[in-house]
Amino acid sequence: MKFRYSESVPKRTDNPTAAILKAAADPQVISFGGGLPAPELFPVAEMKAACDRVFDHNGQQVLQYAETLGYPKLRRQIVDMMQKRGVQTDVPNVAVVTGSQQAIDLVGRMLINPGDIVLTEDPTYLAAIDVFKTYGAHLVGVEMDEAGMRPEALAQALERYPETKFIYTIPNFQNPTGRTMTADRRAQIVKLAAQAQVPLVEDDPYGAIRYAGTNLPPLKHYDQDGTVISISSFSKILAPGLRMGWLVAEQSFMEKFVQLKQNADLHTDNLTQYIVADFLDNVDLDQHIKKITDVYRHRAELMLSQIDQYFPASVRHSQPEGGMFIWVEVPGTDADELLKVCLKNNVAFVPGSAFFAGKVQPGTFRLNFSNMDDEQIRTGIQRMAKAIQTVLA
Ligand SMILES: Cc1ncc(COP(=O)(O)O)c(C=O)c1O
Repeated sequence: MKFRYSESVPKRTDNPTAAILKAAADPQVISFGGGLPAPELFPVAEMKAACDRVFDHNGQQVLQYAETLGYPKLRRQIVDMMQKRGVQTDVPNVAVVTGSQQAIDLVGRMLINPGDIVLTEDPTYLAAIDVFKTYGAHLVGVEMDEAGMRPEALAQALERYPETKFIYTIPNFQNPTGRTMTADRRAQIVKLAAQAQVPLVEDDPYGAIRYAGTNLPPLKHYDQDGTVISISSFSKILAPGLRMGWLVAEQSFMEKFVQLKQNADLHTDNLTQYIVADFLDNVDLDQHIKKITDVYRHRAELMLSQIDQYFPASVRHSQPEGGMFIWVEVPGTDADELLKVCLKNNVAFVPGSAFFAGKVQPGTFRLNFSNMDDEQIRTGIQRMAKAIQTVLA
């Protein structure tokens, strides 16, 4: 059959990320390429107990169709979590989604017409780039530095593209760079978006897994007139296999959002929502997050110290205070070429080229530290150091 695909199906036949992940799946390869949480930290026994309680008490309800925007009790718990993070909201403004990825997709579907401009940090989250392009967006990268998206660069972009459809930002421990936007910039960026009347989509799956520095309020905290659509997730604080995230937005947006959510999947898995709600009732989430951050702090510090010890002195890297990624730049190299040599040395990463909406910064790549033990981190970084020497020679 020769299918006549819609415009939203990507035209390219190669899939570089899939190729990297496939190569990295070889057990010989130490992969810093994926973005997986540490599975040994998943609260398996607590989840099983929650699951048993849910079936014992609500067996019939959880197997039935349910409300499109989510289990009201879980939405109330999300309201409370957001309040602790510095965001005042209410149940009608919260939607439970099938992973924050679904929220990104639905927001794209709601706001983008083919040819529309979307402003993003450059580099940014690969799967958001893919989604927005699927809906026909023209992505314009906004310059960022160690303190996140630069407000001056955003102001210029908004002046140049006054018809911008929305701004997409990952303020905490950004994927791929691990960088965090400062509090001053958060306030400035929300103000710029509000002045320009351009929605600001805040994607924050990592904010809760901070292992250094002090917590900063989400962009939604600074929002006075409904400019900010805030997305977050249970993937990094509980488990990604749950496919459970949430979106917070003003009422008029929610009225449209519910229709698209209904079209997409009627509602997020009801059983899992009940399990997560029960888990939150019975387990100290802050305590659980502390276990995660203790491990990630150690792995990040180990990886950074190995990089400083074994990579050439010219190398630059980000200094994340949380999340799962370090961004590295090796001047004088092409990261795609470096990856080929690394794969021969049985170590993998994701080259920077995957993450840029605009011009690629050569020699940049993303390293994940959450998913590897100490020995793998040491061996992997030393293998990479050898590959870098080969490429530079
Ligand atoms: C920045 C960012 N947003 C969204 C997601 C999707 O997360 P999930 O759908 O598991 O909540 C990820 C996953 O790695 C991510 O890095």
